[in-house]
Amino acid sequence: MEVALEQFFIFVGLLACLVYLVKCVRFSKCIFLHFWKVLPRSFLKSMGQWAVITGAGDGIGKAYSFELARQGLNVVLISRTLKKLQAIAVEIECTTGSSVKIIQADFTKDNIYEHIREKLEGLEIGILVNNVGMLPNFLPSHFLDTPDEIQSLIHCNITSVVKMTQLILKHMESRRKGLILNISSGVALFPWPLYSTYSASKAFVCTFSKALQAEYKRKGIIIQVLTPYAVSTPMTKYLNTNMVTKTADEFVKESLNYVMIGDETCGCLIHEILRSFLNLIPSWVLYSSTFQKKYMDYLKHNTNTI
Ligand SMILES: NC(=O)c1ccc[n+]([C@@H]2O[C@H](COP(=O)([O-])OP(=O)(O)OC[C@H]3O[C@@H](n4cnc5c(N)ncnc54)[C@H](OP(=O)(O)O)[C@@H]3O)[C@@H](O)[C@H]2O)c1
Repeated sequence: MEVALEQFFIFVGLLACLVYLVKCVRFSKCIFLHFWKVLPRSFLKSMGQWAVITGAGDGIGKAYSFELARQGLNVVLISRTLKKLQAIAVEIECTTGSSVKIIQADFTKDNIYEHIREKLEGLEIGILVNNVGMLPNFLPSHFLDTPDEIQSLIHCNITSVVKMTQLILKHMESRRKGLILNISSGVALFPWPLYSTYSASKAFVCTFSKALQAEYKRKGIIIQVLTPYAVSTPMTKYLNTNMVTKTADEFVKESLNYVMIGDETCGCLIHEILRSFLNLIPSWVLYSSTFQKKYMDYLKHNTNTI
């Protein structure tokens, strides 16, 4: 009996060591890629001539559009406000020399995909960035007190990812090459109270993305989900930047170093560290009203517009 118990504890100990070892390998890969850029500069361009970015008119999507154009790809910008798209297109063409196409579309509607399909016809698309997303409440808010935009949120945060992937993946599959980056969020990694619909919609993106990567990896297609925490953009009311809150440009430049790291990444080292730290905190602490109040105060003190 004693021997069996001893063997059981040895087994549990070994298992715990193995789990930590796997975590350490993941973490050290991230640290390595943070300091040494191993991806050849031609890698992204080698995926195909064009990159398609949804929600490209501002924030993270705009930063991806500029960075991918700088890396030599032509870009298709899809977003809601035509004027913003036109201005960005001119700036990208002038500063990078890449070609730009724009498509005006509202992703809260589900009848836009035929129009997008027609506009993308004939392009060799190597990269798709499913970036568009909406956050119904910037400050923490109970479900019943949140603006009733449920259908719009589902279309914008979920349908857009699935439909855009469906449109573009089949061409990638026939070329046996392509990169799809799905922008989820750190709040997808565990249920995040007071952001319930947003958190759940982003969890969908994580699950969909990882399942799809398992299906299409052997066909030469890289599908990665990104789960960043704070990035200073219009969505976050230009949250003050600091060590944790990145500018969109900083975030995008760093995240593109990690495209080969695996099917999921926070996109930057500091958010990986934050994720590990949050994992250590018991959920009852995170869900407590004291923590939520501190979080609300932090948001209020670090934005200029509320
Ligand atoms: N910022 C963060 O801290 C953070 C953290 C984690 C994850 N994310 C995720 O990252 C992605 C980008 O976030 P962001 O902060 O860059 O957002 P953002 O600042 O709000 O910019 C979003 C862009 O998407 C466009 N857009 C919004 N709703 C649209 C719609 N219904 N149809 C078409 N285009 C629409 C906006 O168009 P207009 O130009 O017309 O406004 C804008 O160009 C989102 O999926 C978000 O959930 C952000």
